[in-house]
Amino acid sequence: DFLSRLRKLKHLEKEEYDMIREVAAKAHPMSALRTMISYIGSKDNRTVEPDITTQEMLGVEVIAKIPTIVAAINRVHEGLEIIEPDDDLSYASDFFYQALGRKPSTVEAKMLDAALILHADHGMNASTFSSMLTISTLSDMYSAITSAISTLKGPLHGGANERALALIQRVGRPENAEKVIGSMVEHKEKIMGFGHRVYKVYDPRAKILKQFAEKVTNAHGKQELFQAANKIEEVMISKLGSKGIFPNVDFYSGLLYYSIGFDPEIFTPIFAVSRASGWVARSLEYVKDNRLFRPKALYVGEKGPNKYTPINERE
Ligand code: COA
Repeated sequence: DFLSRLRKLKHLEKEEYDMIREVAAKAHPMSALRTMISYIGSKDNRTVEPDITTQEMLGVEVIAKIPTIVAAINRVHEGLEIIEPDDDLSYASDFFYQALGRKPSTVEAKMLDAALILHADHGMNASTFSSMLTISTLSDMYSAITSAISTLKGPLHGGANERALALIQRVGRPENAEKVIGSMVEHKEKIMGFGHRVYKVYDPRAKILKQFAEKVTNAHGKQELFQAANKIEEVMISKLGSKGIFPNVDFYSGLLYYSIGFDPEIFTPIFAVSRASGWVARSLEYVKDNRLFRPKALYVGEKGPNKYTPINERE
C-alpha cells in the first residue's frame, strides 16, 4: 500500500518541471531543491491549517516527489533533457535512472539503496531538529521540509560530502596525503568528512560506505582516489584519532556517488532524498503530541547601568 502511494505521488506536473528548468539552470542544486519544495507546498491549499491526517499525506507526498525533483534538477544542472519516472522501478533505481539516464546494474542499485537507508535518519541532527521546530508551531509539512533542507545545506552538516570529495581529489594520490593533511591539521583547518558531535569513534555508516566506495572505484578505474582517501583516513587517525576524530558518513559517500557518475553538487540533494523520510517520520511523531519548542536564552553580554535617568529628566 505504501509503495503504491509512493508510485502514484512521485510524478510532477508540467509547470513544476518548468519551474525546475528555470531555477536549476542558475542555482546550486541544493538551493534549487529548497525552492522547489517550498514552491510545490505553496500551490497546495491543504498546507494552510493541516490536521494530522493531512500532515501525513503531505509527508508521504514529499518522500515520493523528492527523488523526482532532485533527479530533474540534476538533469537541468548538467544541461540534459529531463527524464520522467518509471513506475516499474524501485525507489532507488528510479532515482538513479531519472538522474543519470540509464538503469543501474544490480550492484549499483543495491549500493544506492543501502546509501539511502544509511542516511535516512540519525537522531536529533540539525536538519531533523529544524523540521521538528518548524512543525511544532503547527506549520505544515512542506514548510518543515523546507527548513530542514535549508539546514542540511551547510558545510558542517550535509554539505560536507561535496567538500570531502574535493579534498580527496586535491590530494589525488596516497603519497600526497601526509603533506596536505599534515599542513591542514597544523593550520587548524577542519577536514571535511571527519569528526562528529555524537560519535567519538569510527562512524559505523562510514565503514559500510567505505566498502562500497572501494568496489565502485575499482569498477570505474578510480582506484587511486580510493587509495588517496584511505591514506587521508590513516593520517587523520594518527594525528587526531586520540581526540575522537574519525571518518563520518560524509567521507566515503561522496566518493561512492562520484564513482557511480553523480556530479559533486548533487551529493547533498541525494542526502536530502534519503533524509526526507527521517524528517517526515520525526516531525509527524512530534506533532501528534505537540508542544511548541521555545528554548530560553541566557544573556551573558555586558550589563547596562544600574541607574537610569527618568525619561522626562533627560535632555
Ligand atoms: N578536522 C580537524 N579538526 C577537527 C575536526 C575536523 N573535521 N572536527 C573537529 N576537530 C577538532 C576541532 O578543531 C577542535 O579542536 P580543539 O579542541 O583544538 O579546538 C576539536 O576537534 C573539537 O571540535 P568541535 O568543533 O568542538 O567538535 P564538534 O563536536 O562541535 O564538531 C563537527 C562536530 C561535525 C561540526 C566537526 O567535527 C566538523 O566540523 N567536521 C567537519 C564537517 C563534517 O564532516 N560534517 C559532517 C558531520 S556528519
